[in-house]
Amino acid sequence: MLSFSFYNSTMTNNNLIQKAETVLNNNFKEDKGFTIPCEGLYPFQWNWDSGFIAIGFAHYDATKAKREIEALLSAQWENGFIPHIVFHNDSDTYFPGPDFHQSKLHPLASKTHRTTGMTQPPVLGFVLKELYDIIEDKVDILNFIKRNIDKVYNNHEHFYTYRDPNKEGLVYIYHNWESGTDNSPIWDDIWATMDPPKYKFERRDTTHVDAAQRPTNREYDYYLHLIEIAKEHNYDDAKIAELSPFLVQDPLFNAMLIKSNAALIELYGLIGNSDDKIKTLKQWQTKAIKRFNEKLFNEKLGAYVHYDLRNEKQIEYLSSSSFAPIFADIPNEERVETIVKTMMKKFGTEDRYLCASFDPESDRFNPKKYWRGPVWINLNWLLYRGLKAYGFYDLSNRVKKDSIELIEKYGFYEYFDSRKEVKENAGYGGNNFSWSAALLIDFLKS
Ligand code: SER
Repeated sequence: MLSFSFYNSTMTNNNLIQKAETVLNNNFKEDKGFTIPCEGLYPFQWNWDSGFIAIGFAHYDATKAKREIEALLSAQWENGFIPHIVFHNDSDTYFPGPDFHQSKLHPLASKTHRTTGMTQPPVLGFVLKELYDIIEDKVDILNFIKRNIDKVYNNHEHFYTYRDPNKEGLVYIYHNWESGTDNSPIWDDIWATMDPPKYKFERRDTTHVDAAQRPTNREYDYYLHLIEIAKEHNYDDAKIAELSPFLVQDPLFNAMLIKSNAALIELYGLIGNSDDKIKTLKQWQTKAIKRFNEKLFNEKLGAYVHYDLRNEKQIEYLSSSSFAPIFADIPNEERVETIVKTMMKKFGTEDRYLCASFDPESDRFNPKKYWRGPVWINLNWLLYRGLKAYGFYDLSNRVKKDSIELIEKYGFYEYFDSRKEVKENAGYGGNNFSWSAALLIDFLKS
């Protein structure tokens, strides 16, 4: 076992945990009971951010953890869909806001909340399981889970009913913002198939963060165009599946769904009297894992890749999403060895922090630009958990150590430079970023 003296120091740890709690507490909105990802840049509630944030709160404030999840679920649509942003409040620091998204176009959209008409990686199932494991009052947290678990189940049912046109167990995303990895170079090939108009709009993100660390204006044209197509058809799933130029089976998104299926199976088991739901979840799960391994693995690259369902081909690039299936117990022992080798060869050289969000050897790699290269703490957390579960103890410890070191050195940034040679200002994007704080707490306390 490697020993990392800096994070074994209790004083440093306590200090870091205290700072992380301050970040989370400052970003928590007491009146509505949710947490913004960070001030200015992201002033609303984001779906998968909230999941990771709740894990952080669970370690020291179970009430806030529960309120976070309830606030997100309060905006669930009548068809089970859980949107990617909930606009609980007004703000002029973000574009595109509720007036652009117009979720009400969909007949089953939330009647009480303004939201977007797209979703994000479905983390809630496994987050509920994390809350159960972390929070000490098991009776109280199980009651909370009993009140909310069917909502998450309905969300999964929605995915398998409406987002899997071939009925193969893999669901699609229709927008890059649904992937969570917004401007990944993975999407460049899809943008090349589109020619959207040049929209007139005012970016707000680049008033908070250096434009060199954010997507380009032309990329925003693609993003907005995909939403315009969906809006034209009132966010109807069948129409989107038929018409959207962006239709992708994403290994990160599907791995989150599979991990959440597994968590729901365990939680329904604890609750009892849920045999039908467990049976259905197991059916989804078996089919999904099988097809995932058949369709999303790329032998040549030695890892999982995205599948472009619109153009019927794999997108042959490595990203941190290529390794995320390790978190969901998807590869077998032999395959996981291959994936780890690929990761170490390309992403894990000694001059780099793990884990860059995109292949550092590719000419599309950019060490500062959002999801085109920087290290993200949430992906590291997934990798850490997955590697540990497969028995890669040294490597999982390295991912943990790298994550803590980046935060300790540079602050609670949204993303970080993977190059160790960069000594100053290697934290990019928003500062006091909630999920970096939340997952740092979990790294140090679990
Ligand atoms: N993260 C996106 C943004 O940059 C939206 O989910 O606005």
